[in-house]
Amino acid sequence: MAENKRVHIKTYGCQMNVYDSERISDVLAPLGYETTDTPDGADLVVLNTCHIREKAAEKVYSELGRLRPLKEAKASGGGEMLVAVAGCVAQAEGAEMKRRAPMVDMVMGPQTYHQLPEMIAKLHRKSGEALAADFAVEEKFDALPKARSVNGPSAFLTIQEGCDKFCTFCVVPYTRGGEYSRPVDQIAAEARELAARGVREVTLLGQNVNAYHGEPPAGREEDGDWGLGQLARHIAKIGGIERIRYTTSHPRDMDDALIHAHAEEEKLMPYLHLPLQAGSDKILKAMNRGHTLESYLTLIEKIRAARPDIAMSSDFIVGFPGESAEDFEMTMEAVREVNYAQCFSFKYSRRPGTPGASMMKQVAEDEKSDRLARLQALLESQQVDFNASCVGRELPVLFEKPGRNEGQLQGRSPYLQAVHVQGSQDLIGQIAPVRIESSSRNSLAGALVREGAAAA
Ligand code: SAH
Ligand code: SF4
Ligand code: F3S
Repeated sequence: MAENKRVHIKTYGCQMNVYDSERISDVLAPLGYETTDTPDGADLVVLNTCHIREKAAEKVYSELGRLRPLKEAKASGGGEMLVAVAGCVAQAEGAEMKRRAPMVDMVMGPQTYHQLPEMIAKLHRKSGEALAADFAVEEKFDALPKARSVNGPSAFLTIQEGCDKFCTFCVVPYTRGGEYSRPVDQIAAEARELAARGVREVTLLGQNVNAYHGEPPAGREEDGDWGLGQLARHIAKIGGIERIRYTTSHPRDMDDALIHAHAEEEKLMPYLHLPLQAGSDKILKAMNRGHTLESYLTLIEKIRAARPDIAMSSDFIVGFPGESAEDFEMTMEAVREVNYAQCFSFKYSRRPGTPGASMMKQVAEDEKSDRLARLQALLESQQVDFNASCVGRELPVLFEKPGRNEGQLQGRSPYLQAVHVQGSQDLIGQIAPVRIESSSRNSLAGALVREGAAAA
């Protein structure tokens, strides 16, 4: 084991980046790096960046500007602070990043951070390229350490990466590359490792997680590739894993096998994030989403028939180029029709290089703001109502950590709501029934049905 060093990892963007940051710390652990909450005095700072919003690269350059004095202070004390930029901005900017910000020591895309130890060694030998931005995703998963650090009873597990769908607003196909699914056995091994470390809930991740089509387990080759429904049932058999979630799904890939799994597999949680983006077919077509409002609503009917209590979630974009006031009303109408438990909504932002950025009829900024405010008010009222509808019910809660107040515990309901109760800290990592007594916009509160009970 090498001498103790400190790494500060700052994470932006989606859950896949959160997963990648955890794996970056796993890759560095054998080199003696421990994670620290502050960049001040760190031996290595990693910015794990996101490219989804406007001016994403500019924001990274300003963050680098703030790091510069810390790097200089470390150097003037005879030490060294290496700075690495990882993630989707690194992928998009590549070598340009080191030209514009020479203080950056290493640049690596989302599929190459397993090369970090090698890049650090090369830097110390002052030889070789400290730039890695190819798309060898398969190689990455093979190279990552089998051991995984865990942080509580709920963990992310990336099963699929990349996207071939090319929605006209989105940078992901350019930053994460084409679709790739990890083999079932590799995923199951990681899930078993997590379970052995006390994880009770896994969230399977992918940019198009329900497009998953992975190599079947050894001995089942004749099955051909497995889909997400089959994979979820397989993971449900792993001892210790009590809850399975997955995100983000695409409406086009929601197949019957997955819907049936929701009806039959109790460990598959009744919560589904299925982005609609917009309610107008004209806009959905311009976005290249490959589904209509009607096909989406039919799908939801089918899913609700299979699992009546499923809580629905979505992403929305307002003000996509060409979106008229009438088009926007169709989004509002669609939201009323579906009735969501919790959603994310954004103003359209132009991403250079995507088809949407050069479309005519960009919507004025103040118009986008007005539409977003109206949509968010509606979504918020649905969220408040959904949470209120849980009052009086008894829900199984997976306790994750101490709450903010003395003697309090915080956990999650099956519907992903935060739940607060008074109870013994011994319950952390366990599932116990809670009678819900009150609700607010963002959480529920209640009482343990039996103090000390653990119905895992
Ligand atoms: N793979 C997922 C989402 C990926 S990005 C899917 O297909 O739905 C997460 C969300 O960010 C998207 O669902 C979309 O609502 C939003 N988003 C992506 N690009 C955007 C852009 N250029 N402007 C505004 N919102 C955007
Ligand atoms: Fe982006 Fe569309 Fe792919 Fe989702 S499906 S990652 S929104 S291109
Ligand atoms: Fe952002 Fe890359 Fe995720 S652009 S949303 S970090 S896939």
